[in-house]
Parts: sequence; C-alpha cells; structure tokens
Amino acid sequence: MKKERVARPDNWRRSLYAGLIRPEHEGKDVTLFGWVQRQRDIGNLVFIDLRDREGIVQVVFSTERPALLEAAKKIRPEYVIGIKGRVRRRGAGAINPELATGEMEVEALEVKVLSAAKVPPFQVADPVSASEELRFKYRYIDLRRPSMQRNIRLRHEAGLRVRNFLSSQGFLEVETPFLTKSTPEGARDYLVPSRVYKGRFYALPQSPQLFKQTLMISGFDRYFQVVRCFRDEDLRADRQPEFTQIDIEMSFVDREDVYATVEALMASVFEIIGEKIKMPFPRLSYEESLEKYGTDKPDLRIEEEIVDLSAEAAQVQSDILRNALASGGTVRALRVKEGASLSRSQLDKINQQSRDLGAKGIIWLRKQDGFKSSLKLTGEEARVLWEKMKASEEDIVLCVADRREVALAALGNLRKELLQNQARKGFAFAWITDFPLFEWSSEEGKVVSVHHPFTSSHEADIPLLDKDPLRVRAKAYDLVLNGYEIGGGSIRIHDLDVQRKIFGILGLTDKETEEKFGFFLEALGYGTPPHGGIALGFDRIVMLLAGEESIREVIPFPKTTSALCLLTGSPSEVSERQLDELGLRVKK
Ligand code: AMO
Repeated sequence: MKKERVARPDNWRRSLYAGLIRPEHEGKDVTLFGWVQRQRDIGNLVFIDLRDREGIVQVVFSTERPALLEAAKKIRPEYVIGIKGRVRRRGAGAINPELATGEMEVEALEVKVLSAAKVPPFQVADPVSASEELRFKYRYIDLRRPSMQRNIRLRHEAGLRVRNFLSSQGFLEVETPFLTKSTPEGARDYLVPSRVYKGRFYALPQSPQLFKQTLMISGFDRYFQVVRCFRDEDLRADRQPEFTQIDIEMSFVDREDVYATVEALMASVFEIIGEKIKMPFPRLSYEESLEKYGTDKPDLRIEEEIVDLSAEAAQVQSDILRNALASGGTVRALRVKEGASLSRSQLDKINQQSRDLGAKGIIWLRKQDGFKSSLKLTGEEARVLWEKMKASEEDIVLCVADRREVALAALGNLRKELLQNQARKGFAFAWITDFPLFEWSSEEGKVVSVHHPFTSSHEADIPLLDKDPLRVRAKAYDLVLNGYEIGGGSIRIHDLDVQRKIFGILGLTDKETEEKFGFFLEALGYGTPPHGGIALGFDRIVMLLAGEESIREVIPFPKTTSALCLLTGSPSEVSERQLDELGLRVKK
C-alpha cells in the first residue's frame, strides 16, 4: 500500500472519462482517474463515487479482493485516485436515475492513490453550502462542483461560437495593448507605474475603443476581439473590475449593419442552450424606454408598462398631486397585478425604496369593498384613476408624483422588483437607440458624454451642437437582454473637425485634448473610413446563458464586490525595493 500511495500512473492511461460510462461499455476493462466524491464502507463492501469533469461513476470493492478492499477503506473524499476495473450492469434495484452513469458500475480490479487530500472546507456538491467568501478562498475546490464545471465549459463554448461566427463573417481577431493610455469609458483607470520612466504610468484599458478605431484607419475593415477590460468602479452582481468584452468594429457601415451582425451572433451563441432567438430584435428609443419602463435597460419579459396619470391627477383635489404638477412634475403609475395582497409593511418597504431613489414617496390605491388609498380621494376621483389603469380587485396601483425622471426611475425600479415573478420564460432582447449624446453631470458641473466622446450625432441634430447640446441625439445603441445591458456601441465620428468640436463641448482645452488624444486626432487626419461598432459584455451573456444571477458564477477566478481576490490575496503590499525601483513612495 505504501508503495502504491507514491506511485505515479506510469503505464496507466485513461481509457475514458468516468462520467461517460454507459451500458454500451458493459464487460469492458477501463482505466479511470478522478476525485473521490464519496466513500461508503459497509464492511464487506466499499463503494466509491469517482468524479471527473464528465460526471460520477460508482466503483465497487468487495471481499473477492481483500487487499483491495482494505485499501479502499482508507480512501477519503477528494483523494485523487486511479482505478482499473471492469464495467458491469447494476442490479435492477440498484439503478441510480440521478446519475447519467446510473445503470452501470465499475468493479475495481486495481486502485492507485495518486494524491491524498485534506478534509475540504466544504463539500463538493450542488447547491453549495459554503459562503461566497469561503468559496472564493478555495476557488479550486468550488470549481470542482458540477454547476461550476458546466458554467466554465459553457463560457468556453460561447467564446468558441463567437470566434467561429465572427470569423465566418470576415472579422479578424486582432490583439490590442493592455499597457496603454487612459481610454475614457467613465470609470477610474487601473494604473501601472513605469520603472524605466519614473513618474510615468501606463493605464490598463477600460476598453480598446481607440485601438479598434485606429484599426479601421489601418484598413482592417472588420475587427473583433474577445478582450479583457479593466475598470475601477463600484462593483455589483453584474460588474467586475476586470471583465471580458466581445469587441467589434466595422468600416463603411451604418447602424443597421451593426444590428444585423450582432443579432445573428446572438442567435448563434444562444443555440448552444437550444434557444431559438427571434430576429429582428425590437427597438425602442431611449425616450420611449424611459417612458414605458422607467429605465434604459428594460426587462421586456414583463408586460406591464408605466402609465401617465398626469391629466387625471390634475382633476383630483389633492395638494400632493397638485403641487407636484404645478412645479412642472408629473404623476406616473404602475399597476401591480395581484398586488392587492401586499401588506402594510411591504408597502412601507416599497415607500422607503422609492425615497432612496429620490422620490417623495409612493401613493397606493386599491379596491376592495370600496376604494382605499394612502391619499385622500373621493370615490369618483379614485374611480377615474382606477379605470385609466385598467386595474381589477386583485391588483394595486402605485403612483409617484414627482419630477419626471424621479417618478419614472422609482416606478421602473418597482416594476423590476415587484413584477419579476410575472416575467415570461425565455430571452427578450431589445435595442435601445437614440440616446442623448451628452448629459449634465452635477458632480462635475459640466456636460459629459452619455457613451464616450467618439460617438457621432444624428446629422439632423448637428446644428444643435452649439445651441442646445443636451438635445442632440447620438447614433448610439445599447443591447439589452432580460433587464441587463449586455452591449453598447455607436457609429463613430470620423471627421477630425467634428471630433475636435466635441472635445470642446466637453470642456477640454486644446492642450488637454492634445495630451489625451493627440495621437488619435493625428490618425483621424490620415484617411478615416466611416465606421461603427459595439462591445458586448461577455460575462453577462454567459451569466444569462447559464441562468445565473451574478457574473461571479461564470468567471473562473472572480473578485469580491470589494475588488479582492481571496484566492491569491491580491491586491497586496510590495517590498520597499520594488517601490524604490519604480520611484514610488506609499502615503500612509
Ligand atoms: P460599454 O462601456 O457600454 O462600451 O461596455 C460594453 C459592455 O461591457 C459590459 N460591461 C461590464 N461587464 C462586467 N463588468 C463591468 N465592470 C462592465 N462594464 C461594462 C456591459 C456593457 O454593455 N468601448 C465601448 C463600446 C463601443 O462603443 O463600441 C464600451 O466599452 O455589458
């Protein structure tokens, strides 16, 4: 036994994956390698569930081979072992319908322990019982779980689809630098200090935006890249500091060409899970999306839309409503089907949520033995509102009287939260189009780009650039799926003068423009084709393919929401010597 524990499987070659054993292998001698999922010792028999990436098979040790039985008794979960054995059918009563291999088992003829294992911090099983912290610290064990194996494999298959599809459409994958200059996508940069040029820094790309546009100037015509991007921003379930984009750029195209390419790409990717995607995708202007759904990333599986009750509310004798309307506000409402049963405490919670989003509060209205409302209403007033909302006795109507953006945002949030269970099954894609080119940033006290400064405007709105920039519409689009923004892009500015003008509107001085984008402006002057493109959030797409709720479930080695890698312990301090070499000192 001692000798066996250290033995390497020199002349042992795996004949097939344990998880692939099927009735057709009956009577075959097999060599299997894997991890011990479970060991059951019932005295004269030991059962070992052997797991590899394809699944689990039961291996049986019996008194027919006493030395082997003794060896099996010492084997523990997560040991790595090799088995030589013979495949046989299980007895009728012993079939396990839970396992793909469940009609069969392997009679052990030889065993080699290749590696013993400490008692794992949590069991390798779905659903996992450990906290996310523990899972991330021991990610290598977490990744052994069948669901994680499936997710990572799905990610591989999706990446392969993307590459095959885009390649078949004439796109070339071109790599762009990671050690580069700041690219403006609205987040903070991760900086890398230069040792050679002390006091100077590379920035990790927030996206390859300028490089992909440069590749169009270089004549590659159709580019793509499955590429890591880095953004130092607040994290949440669908955001990581490093994430992967399917980055695409095309020359001599308009928006329709981008839409058609991306729709066919999505259809190809979703085929992996047997989903037939309906094309073309519906399109909604940014304004329309806000009006109906209170967000620019609507979940179109939910049918309910926000209703404008301003006209009806103007007839109601209520100071709250009248004041809101008189100060230029609006009254918007959402019908929550089957919402009549919401309790007072649930309504209080909803009220608080809307306050957190800046609204003054939620007004509710329901009808059970007459109308009841958080607002004082006459029966007639309530009836008018109720009928406009086409509500029935099982429903509740939630209203917000406030500034338009505030009312829409609050109801958009409630629509997502309260109606999630009414979402139909499947995948609802949509293009959100015609975003404004600029928005006002009260934080920065100036106009900023809604997408990025390389986005072109509608030709018809060009005269507004000087007069009323906030009304200029962009040739920009987002792709949304089930309430997630899974992509964003635009037709780009390819005219040097227009690009300079945009930087001016954004408040950049000539000097700043030169420092930040001089190289790119120079390039624009050397023959630039009209071009446009998009970047799709690969992690979010795989998350939705996998039916997961966080991109952390489809990223092999993710960071926590506080940007830590618990496996490696990064970020970590560095030695004085390293700092010296870089010419840096850490402020305490
Ligand atoms: P944008 O900033 O919209 O566009 O990014 C494109 C898509 O990338 C995904 N994404 C993220 N996914 C995970 N974690 C993050 N922190 C994160 N940030 C963004 C989203 C998003 O829709 N250069 C432009 C594209 C272009 O104009 O072609 C860009 O990067 O799904």
